[in-house]
Amino acid sequence: MDYKDSNSIIKRLNEIKDIPTLPIIAMEINRMLESYDTSIEKLSTAIEKDQAIASKVLRLVNSSFFGVRSKVTRIRDAVVLLGFDSVRNIVLSVSLVKAFSGALSQNGFDIADFWRHSINVAMTSKKLSELSKTEEPECCFTSGLLHDSGKIILSQHFSGLFESIMMKVLSENISFTASEKTLTSFGHEKAGGFLSAKWKLPVHLVDVVRFHHTISQRASNMNLVKIVHAADVIAHALTLDQDLFDQDAFNKIRSRMNETVLNDKALGPHLKKVGYWYPELSENIKEANRFFAQNA
Ligand SMILES: [Fe+2]
Ligand SMILES: [Fe+2]
Repeated sequence: MDYKDSNSIIKRLNEIKDIPTLPIIAMEINRMLESYDTSIEKLSTAIEKDQAIASKVLRLVNSSFFGVRSKVTRIRDAVVLLGFDSVRNIVLSVSLVKAFSGALSQNGFDIADFWRHSINVAMTSKKLSELSKTEEPECCFTSGLLHDSGKIILSQHFSGLFESIMMKVLSENISFTASEKTLTSFGHEKAGGFLSAKWKLPVHLVDVVRFHHTISQRASNMNLVKIVHAADVIAHALTLDQDLFDQDAFNKIRSRMNETVLNDKALGPHLKKVGYWYPELSENIKEANRFFAQNA
């Protein structure tokens, strides 16, 4: 197969029968939030119909790292407290984990590493949204979890390509994205964008997947794309055991970060201080990793 030819990859993608599917409840909620007559009651009842998802949503909302102050025991209370959009994003986050639960570690792809990285980016995106006050935190969290979903598609359904990318990463000591670029014009951004569009996710989420490396001006929500890009760079550049108040932390992320993101008025000042807020966040990330390992 010619991986340089996007059309033949798209053709193959359309033919895959066992492509991951979102739980019905997530699709239903996306539809409900597009209509104007959705009430708190209607939304809560719909979520509660899927007991497994509902209890995971409550567990996540009440987890220590998620940052909701009061204890929430009913979905209805979560909707009142957090709002429709936040709850939609939390349902989506829980659903994503379920949708990818069948993915296997193969061809140089490690599913545990994938989740650790995704959770790291989700938590860091949420933190950046709280610091910069530009986007809704739960939306940033979901975006972070979703951003590399194309890697799952490539590793499970384009195994030859994925293996070649990983071999080049190791032999040339380059990033996944740099290696991918030399082998295909249809990388994980596009593969994940394809899946997100197939799932009929809101366009700002589809775009964050499509453009988290390229930072294209075509994205429907540039702030969101910038946040996830920054969080991704931080997740790759810093370790969770970073020394407290490490002055070099900013230097470590600077060289890999897109200029527009570095110079962004809302984000830039917080990125410069990453060494100051990252140690505390990394403790929360470790806790989030433990949570997802136990609740996935
Ligand atoms: Fe990526
Ligand atoms: Fe990533």
